Amino acid sequence: MALTTTTPLALILLTLIPFLTPQIQAQAPAPAPSGPINITTIFEKAGQYNFLIRLLNETQQLTQIQTQLNSTSEGFTIFAPTDNAFQNLPSEAINDLSDQQKVQLILYHVTPKYYSLSDFLTVSNPVRTQASGKEGNWGLHFTSQGNQVNVSTGVVTVPINNALRQQFPLAVYQLDKVLLPSELFGAKSPSSSPAPKSSKTPSKTPSSSDVERDAPSPASSKKDDSAAGRNVGFGFVAGLGLICMGVLL
Ligand SMILES: *[C@@H]1O[C@H](CO)[C@@H](O)[C@H](O)[C@H]1NC(C)=O
Ligand SMILES: *[C@@H]1O[C@H](CO)[C@@H](O)[C@H](O)[C@H]1NC(C)=O
Ligand SMILES: *[C@@H]1O[C@H](CO)[C@@H](O)[C@H](O)[C@H]1NC(C)=O
Ligand SMILES: *[C@@H]1O[C@H](CO)[C@@H](O)[C@H](O)[C@H]1NC(C)=O
Repeated sequence: MALTTTTPLALILLTLIPFLTPQIQAQAPAPAPSGPINITTIFEKAGQYNFLIRLLNETQQLTQIQTQLNSTSEGFTIFAPTDNAFQNLPSEAINDLSDQQKVQLILYHVTPKYYSLSDFLTVSNPVRTQASGKEGNWGLHFTSQGNQVNVSTGVVTVPINNALRQQFPLAVYQLDKVLLPSELFGAKSPSSSPAPKSSKTPSKTPSSSDVERDAPSPASSKKDDSAAGRNVGFGFVAGLGLICMGVLL
């Protein structure tokens, strides 16, 4: 009789053990993935960066950054305009640039330092880019409101919403606009209002602030929730295990 009551309890305890182990491991920080970082692969996986990859490749920057990534102690941050962002530019904007200016434009999208999204909340402006240190400033300006971060060149302002990668030594952020440096594009639009879409009717047009409001905010609270859920789950399972052990003893 005693055997028939204790055996199921022992079985429950045994079946709980495999669940307990991964729960404990989930608390530890995830180990950094080993193996080299392949910038091309990051963009190919994300899938809407053909124009950027082509420009990075044409200007030799793909190999340059890829190589330096291996030896940097500061890391790198790449601001990655989507294919849509490039397509929304007037076609002459890129085509009219000299090869040297194309290189500068690409270098302007890279900082010689790793920045997490939360780093942008406290960073001091202007932030140096790979194009800085030549003529002009070639800096980026960051503003934040809550957890929402904008990056501005003086010519364009873009919200940063999506990280393709955020792990030292490389951060990659999606941008819906190309970062046009004022050093190249500022003189052409001194009023800083290119305003190509001045619609006749004052009807509602989708503005960038609308897009921003609809954009998902950094889901840090979500993560906290799930972490809390895990802890509760762990406590419950552990408690159940202890009860079983108490019964067995
Ligand atoms: C990155 O991966 C691509 C294939 O997706 C490959 O052609 C390229 O050589 C790789 N680059 C490096 C630096 O490993
Ligand atoms: C870079 O350009 C070369 C030709 O110049 C080409 O063979 C190679 O596939 C390109 N790589 C990428 C990642 O586009
Ligand atoms: C990166 O550095 C490691 C050693 O730290 C070296 O073995 C490897 O060849 C380097 N890769 C490149 C692409 O330079
Ligand atoms: C970001 O830029 C948009 C316009 O592009 C503006 O409405 C918003 O207030 C800016 N937010 C911050 C935090 O600067």
